[in-house]
Amino acid sequence: MTLPFMEIFKEWASDYDNAVFGQNPEYYDVFVNYDFMLREAAKKAEGKVLEFGPGTGNLTNLLLAKGLDVIPVEPSDEMRAIGENKTGVEFVKGDFLNFNVDQVDTIITSYAFHHLTDEEKLIALKKYKSILTENGKIIILDTIFNSKEEKQQMINHYELLGYKSLVEDLNREYYPLKETMEDIARISGYDYTSQQMNRFAHLQVLTHKKFLKPLDLVGNTPLVELTNFELNKGVRLFAKLESYNIGGSVKDRLAFNLIQSAIDHGEIRDEVVEATAGNTGIGLALACLQHDLQLTVFVPEKFSVEKQQLMKALGANIIHTPTEKGMTYAREQAEQYAKDNNAYYTNQFENLSNPLSYDQLAQEIQADVGKVDMIVAGAGSGGTFEGLARHFKEAHKVIVEPEGSILSCGEVGNHRIEGIGVEQWPVFLSKSNIDVVESISDEDGFQMVTELAKNEGLLVGSSSAAALCAALKQAQHVTDKNIVVIFPDAAERYISSNIFNIN
Ligand SMILES: Cc1ncc(COP(=O)(O)O)c(C=O)c1O
Repeated sequence: MTLPFMEIFKEWASDYDNAVFGQNPEYYDVFVNYDFMLREAAKKAEGKVLEFGPGTGNLTNLLLAKGLDVIPVEPSDEMRAIGENKTGVEFVKGDFLNFNVDQVDTIITSYAFHHLTDEEKLIALKKYKSILTENGKIIILDTIFNSKEEKQQMINHYELLGYKSLVEDLNREYYPLKETMEDIARISGYDYTSQQMNRFAHLQVLTHKKFLKPLDLVGNTPLVELTNFELNKGVRLFAKLESYNIGGSVKDRLAFNLIQSAIDHGEIRDEVVEATAGNTGIGLALACLQHDLQLTVFVPEKFSVEKQQLMKALGANIIHTPTEKGMTYAREQAEQYAKDNNAYYTNQFENLSNPLSYDQLAQEIQADVGKVDMIVAGAGSGGTFEGLARHFKEAHKVIVEPEGSILSCGEVGNHRIEGIGVEQWPVFLSKSNIDVVESISDEDGFQMVTELAKNEGLLVGSSSAAALCAALKQAQHVTDKNIVVIFPDAAERYISSNIFNIN
């Protein structure tokens, strides 16, 4: 701290409390709501706290009353004496740039940061990066200005009132613009928020800027409105684009949840096994990667080559089963493998955690759409539909299958629509949650894949297109409704099976 400031502190020390508690008319507006502002600042402090420029200890007392471990660092001898007397704790001699502390959870300061030039503010914030814990924060309560014009108007205003000391203060000290503070915070690697507390003061909070890791990218997928299909009056059609998950499908939600809950229950040793058409396998391969586990998957040969290559690329071991023996055989093989090799069988078709994996999906939809009148989802294991149906109890719930699936009492048969269709009733799928089953033919499904690309610019897999066919059929009977359709994955993983029927 420079010498002129030290002289100012000397003068200020004895008058400081008069000013902050409203006795000095020149500083009345600066300190309006002082008590409230300090309480709000103290509320945000946590853990071990480093307080810079505690002055006469008013904020320090609030932090101590919260039971926090506080290190007050104050350059002025006069202030330190008053502060120590008022708080009963030792004030360390030092300042924003000169201190000797290792790791703290909070750095806090009130009405002092403006003593630093903007350049010094930047140096200080960079320095704090290394002593702040990962979830730590910097709390700055101080005067900042919303614009240059505002600052000048204030100076003119108080000049007219004859407030000499205040005007001198505003011209001498380094009260920054809000945008400058934002820049300084951003450049030094923080996220910045500020809340205006009175005409002068803003309560600013800086936290370490956090970056996601690839495997954090599960969930929070986009919801889009489809506007290029003809709909009855007041009907709005929304599609949840699950291809935006890191593994490219809705099944990432299932895979990450199944692996996490098995780990939480101590059920996994070092290998995981599953029977899958592919998307679950990709999700599981990613989840296994995150936890350093080996994955083996049993896949009926007919399923998309792309999905199988992606699983392999992610480190999975693939065992093919004959197409004609269907998914039931693949499941039996996976179960036997688990027994023989002491592996954990995730068993998506019977695992009661399956539907629970879609709680967050339901919440995301609820948050985006608000009132959901109709929900439309396909069934492979039935988990997506059941999870959503349990949440959207009041909605009209439409489950979608391809022809050749048994939900509407049809016979098991071949179909090209991939990812949906069941050979036996899924254990967790409750009949009472289903309002309608829509069976979609391969022909209608694949035609819709092409229409969706041309009409909406959406490149989706055949189960998404089938779900949309079902939604459009049901939409014919209603007006003024919000309809949400789940689009489980994208077209690119089906190019080799000629999804667009292009030669
Ligand atoms: C492309 C695709 N669509 C839909 C589904 C059906 O999801 P669920 O198993 O939750 O019924 C799956 C499941 O594998 C899928 O891969």
